[in-house]
Amino acid sequence: EGDPRLKAIKEAIRVVPHFPKPGIMFQDITTLLLDHKAFKHTVDIFVDRYRNMRIDVVAGCEARGFMFGPPIALAIGAKFVPLRKPRKLPGEVISEAYTLEYGTDCLEIHVGAVQTGERAIVIDDLVATGGTLCAAIRLLERVGAEVVECACVIGLPEIQYYFSAYSHDRPTRVLNP
Ligand code: PRP
Repeated sequence: EGDPRLKAIKEAIRVVPHFPKPGIMFQDITTLLLDHKAFKHTVDIFVDRYRNMRIDVVAGCEARGFMFGPPIALAIGAKFVPLRKPRKLPGEVISEAYTLEYGTDCLEIHVGAVQTGERAIVIDDLVATGGTLCAAIRLLERVGAEVVECACVIGLPEIQYYFSAYSHDRPTRVLNP
């Protein structure tokens, strides 16, 4: 996009080869969190986009969506809703399973956290197959929210096209610094 902030963001993300297993280039955003300027740039880019879109709900996917979602929610005046892995939320939940490379996982939302008709965005650090974002979209739609967009810092380019298939072309903003 030619935004000069993207260079600083890219430089702050550490790429760790062969983690957690051989052949995987792990995108480590913990080093982005250590760099105050680059972290702020990341949040600011999303805040600039969403501040005037009447967003009621910022939903973050466990675990790394919990790191980017809350500062964005505070800045745009929305509530933050954690979408958690199974058996973490104490209240009544609804669940959505999704497929992983091997097996399945699940995201849950507290019933009552989101009201019918509320406008939501979904935040995560990274989209790979899109399975996680799609489960998040389904959860929010089941509780009556309007999912305006998903937003991620990183998209793995070779598999991103799957996401539009999974998500029925739900708009997804990927910074891809
Ligand atoms: C990673 C990443 C995304 C998801 C992307 O989380 O942070 O949430 O995978 O993959 P997908 O697009 O193929 O669904 P992970 O499942 O490793 O969970 P964690 O953050 O709790 O470790």
